[in-house]
Amino acid sequence: MSRKPIIAGNWKMHNTTKESVELTKGIIEGIKDLNKDSLPEIVIAPVFTSLCSVACELKECKEIALSSQNCYYEPKGAFTGEISLDMLKDLNVTNVIIGHSERRQYFKEDDEMINKKAIAILENGLTPIICCGETLEQREMGVTDSHVSSQIVKALENIEPSEIEKVVIAYEPIWAIGTGKTCDSQEANRVIKVIRNTIAQVAGNAVAEKVRILYGGSVKPSTIVEQMAQSDIDGALVGGASLKAEDFVEIIKGAM
Ligand code: PGA
Repeated sequence: MSRKPIIAGNWKMHNTTKESVELTKGIIEGIKDLNKDSLPEIVIAPVFTSLCSVACELKECKEIALSSQNCYYEPKGAFTGEISLDMLKDLNVTNVIIGHSERRQYFKEDDEMINKKAIAILENGLTPIICCGETLEQREMGVTDSHVSSQIVKALENIEPSEIEKVVIAYEPIWAIGTGKTCDSQEANRVIKVIRNTIAQVAGNAVAEKVRILYGGSVKPSTIVEQMAQSDIDGALVGGASLKAEDFVEIIKGAM
């Protein structure tokens, strides 16, 4: 079963609109001479305020898809400070990152809210990129597999298998995010297999074989080739290294 790889850049709370546009131009320039047929799916996730300008920049570029870093699940109403899926679709956003550990940790998002968001995103025809991963403490306690499985089971509750196959998962061990400490590729692959088995239990083997599962956590140009060589790693969710066009393009090349 061949799954098309995805390289996604999570820009987090970085870049003004001008800087986001510059970075987008740099990535477009960097991929323009690459063989289009062997490119991975490329996704970039700027801050909300840059989405409109970046969408404009991507109009002529079919190779790069636009993602937001969050959304709200209600269609409209008195939810001060939130952004609906209609508003995102309006800007050609096709992917939404949900359940990032920073949102779970600093903004108290729980599995139930992440599940509601996943359902709303799929109902709107967009792709959720659902993040999961353990803390260092959980890893040391030996509960990595059960914790990650439980996050996935809860995120996918009440979603039909035919919809689950469209979901993208990102396994991001929290201790590897922004620390420069990459999770050993074989270990990342092992946990990703645990996630795939969990999906198989929820939605069947055929669906589990189709779901793209990314690795995230200090991915760099120097780590991507080994990561992509693993049987079950289908790409990367990249934070820090996605903020430099050159590095992000090198990572894209590493997934070709
Ligand atoms: P990092 O971030 O690549 O800077 O570790 C990854 C992420 O949080 O998605």
